[in-house]
Amino acid sequence: MGNWPNNAQVVFVGCNQWGDTGKGKVVDSLAPEADICARGQGGSNAGHSAGGHVFHLMPSSILCKNVTQHIIGNGVAFHPGTFLDERATLIQTGESCDNISVALNAKLVLPPHLLMDRILDSHGGNIGTTGRGIGPTYVDSLDRQGLIVNDMLNPDIFAEKLKCNLVRKRCLLQMYDPEVIKEIMFHPLLGGGDFYSPNGFFSEDAIIECYLNYGKVLDELQMIDDTDALMLQAHQDGLRILGEGAQGLLISSWHKNNRFRTCSDSSVFGWAQGVGLDVRNVDLAYGIVKFPIPTRVGEGSMPCELGGDQQRIWCRDASHNRDFERQFADDSPDDEDEFVAGRAFRVISDEYGATTGRPRRPSWLDLPLLRLAISINGPIIGITKIDIGDHCDRVKICTDHVYDGPDQRWGRLTLRRGDILHVAILDDEVLQHCRPVYKEFLTWSGSVRDCKSRADFPPELERMISFIEEEAGCKAGFFSVGKERERTIFSDIN
Ligand code: IMP
Repeated sequence: MGNWPNNAQVVFVGCNQWGDTGKGKVVDSLAPEADICARGQGGSNAGHSAGGHVFHLMPSSILCKNVTQHIIGNGVAFHPGTFLDERATLIQTGESCDNISVALNAKLVLPPHLLMDRILDSHGGNIGTTGRGIGPTYVDSLDRQGLIVNDMLNPDIFAEKLKCNLVRKRCLLQMYDPEVIKEIMFHPLLGGGDFYSPNGFFSEDAIIECYLNYGKVLDELQMIDDTDALMLQAHQDGLRILGEGAQGLLISSWHKNNRFRTCSDSSVFGWAQGVGLDVRNVDLAYGIVKFPIPTRVGEGSMPCELGGDQQRIWCRDASHNRDFERQFADDSPDDEDEFVAGRAFRVISDEYGATTGRPRRPSWLDLPLLRLAISINGPIIGITKIDIGDHCDRVKICTDHVYDGPDQRWGRLTLRRGDILHVAILDDEVLQHCRPVYKEFLTWSGSVRDCKSRADFPPELERMISFIEEEAGCKAGFFSVGKERERTIFSDIN
């Protein structure tokens, strides 16, 4: 029996939390039954592993042979160098990488975007971005300053648009220390200085030469295409379309969280728009929930963080990476000190950023935030990393937020100390003052890794899942109980 949901033509796999919830593995489980797989959001800020390699731009479905077409849609921030490097890696390992199309109107990530991302974040931004140029690329696009993939096929247009773009960048860069700019321009992601000029920071000629060459290579491979039209046709032809979301709803650009977020819309709406489909054509949207320990990377409030500020500050330090934290392997996830428990969970579940290597911040499941995510992505969730619950005796689930800050207006409301928020307000000015109300659950003995269906779950786990479904008003459509693909259990949601 297959995993593809009954009667669905278009299925989206997104994340209802902060990203890093295991979308790639689920896409991998569904792709063998799909005709087309498409990405429509984010860019090389994402990260997933396939065939032993970490990819950032390649769709997770790329190794799936029966998929006739992989699409990088118009909503993606496309860095051609990263894409071509990933393609080379695939080819070196004996994989083919031919049936992939890149939207001619995908947003082009350029050296000035990488520079601006890094300089803005280290001079007051303090978002903890991935440094891949994502924010500035989308900003330029909205600000009518951006370039698109198709521009690489038209040398004169490319040169003219680049010139306009750089005029503004150079004005802005006057505010910063030229030595800092120079140092960033020598970063390996910026070609180790290839695009640097002491005269105006950027060598226009070098950028033009490099990007026109990328365009030539992609054109020879016949990869640049009108993917919006392809998707529309595929939908009309009744082909099965699998949508691979990027990042997570709680860091979406379009849903209230106004500062500590990424810059594309990570919801199902953002995906549909980013691949050229009408969101009403999506038959089923899964919003993944990592449970019992959701995580976040970068800055921004997370009311249920294990260890609170201590954890957040610890995780800011990139040297606290996988290798460094191995020394804490004997710590207990049941430690009374939640900072220690959180770090123990991180080591057990190997929660380190695929793009940056940063330690991810662990949290308990936050139902007020989930209720909000469901109000946007819809009522079907998937639950991943359940097997982490094998390693602890108890878990907490947050049922409500208690507002604990100074009086604050929120539209027609005035938030006052002690107010209960059943649905979270996804705004850092509010979230930073929210205290969680918890319900504690005892976990199961033994392991859930060999469960083959929901009916096999220990009663303690079933009680928690039913509690989540009832409390958040959702239904779980799949469960992941181990990192191997076969440890994903799909369940009927009708
Ligand atoms: P940016 O997308 O690189 O601009 O980063 C903005 C924020 O989103 C930072 O807090 C990042 O850590 C976070 N972020 C971006 N991409 C991902 C992802 O794929 N998973 C989790 N967090 C992400």
